[in-house]
Amino acid sequence: MSNPTPVTVIGTGTMGSALARALLRAGHTVTVWNRTAARAAPLAEEGANVAANLQEAVTASEFVIICVASPDVVDELVSAASAELRGRTLVQVTTGRPAAIRRGAAVATAAGITVLGGAILAYPRTVGLPEAVFLFGGEEAEFEHARPLLEDLGTVHRLGPDPGAPSAMDAALIGFFYGALSGFLHGARITKAEGMELKTYSSLAQPFIGNFISGAIADAAERVVSRDYSDPQSSLDTHLGGIDDLVVGTSHDAGLDSPVMEAIRDQIAAGVQRGLGSQDIAVLLEP
Ligand SMILES: NC(=O)c1ccc[n+]([C@@H]2O[C@H](COP(=O)([O-])OP(=O)(O)OC[C@H]3O[C@@H](n4cnc5c(N)ncnc54)[C@H](OP(=O)(O)O)[C@@H]3O)[C@@H](O)[C@H]2O)c1
Repeated sequence: MSNPTPVTVIGTGTMGSALARALLRAGHTVTVWNRTAARAAPLAEEGANVAANLQEAVTASEFVIICVASPDVVDELVSAASAELRGRTLVQVTTGRPAAIRRGAAVATAAGITVLGGAILAYPRTVGLPEAVFLFGGEEAEFEHARPLLEDLGTVHRLGPDPGAPSAMDAALIGFFYGALSGFLHGARITKAEGMELKTYSSLAQPFIGNFISGAIADAAERVVSRDYSDPQSSLDTHLGGIDDLVVGTSHDAGLDSPVMEAIRDQIAAGVQRGLGSQDIAVLLEP
């Protein structure tokens, strides 16, 4: 836990409230502001100061965390409190595309505001625990100055000086997340269509992630760095059989559409057509 520090949280939606609560638990002096005041009120009972307006909230602290619906909202609020934010550190953790985050950060920096761009890889319930991962981009000295406070939110990583880098990495990791989740849900549809127990599927799926999928990801993670796709456990040819006949074929027989699985099948088939059939599936990374 870091030294008690005044910190402001702008936006007390689901995530902003979780950030404010973690900072309160860590003993900081927390000021909050939310467009809809009723949504900030419960935090007052937990020890936060609820500011009467945005400008008052900003002037209460050296560190101002902003967590709202979109980068457009961030830009709007930063513009409205630009004078008050000058000379303070804005920790921007709203999700958005790297280009939008970089644009907003450039405007704020030109107005004399220190900006740390951020991305949150966590659900609100884990904020404050080590499993909640926060990515940041910004100047090293400014990040190090804020680090003790930020570490009270979870595990932090700095990805260099670019404030848009956390958003780019967020896009990469969340794309991975949606792909994995979509695969899990498609498996549930097959299970249901085949008249099997979803409870059985779920109980087999969880250790499957730990034992089989995480091993495959660890192998792929090494290969995407080394770019060595030789001597695979399972070749691209073998994967094509698995996805085309087993997954897409079974889905088809069960009367299920499977656009995501078909797109993956097509990607693998294109690799085989390029003559990569004997290589590891990670070769699909190559253009
Ligand atoms: N929830 C998660 O699991 C999660 C995980 C990672 C990242 N995030 C990111 O955290 C950010 C907030 O998400 P959330 O889950 O907290 O969403 P949320 O509960 O819907 O909260 C949205 C917040 O944005 C504010 N807002 C929206 N439009 C506004 C405007 N025009 N002016 C001022 N304030 C405005 C809302 O204020 P009002 O209350 O007045 O509407 C509220 O404080 C998003 O970028 C999200 O992607 C969330």
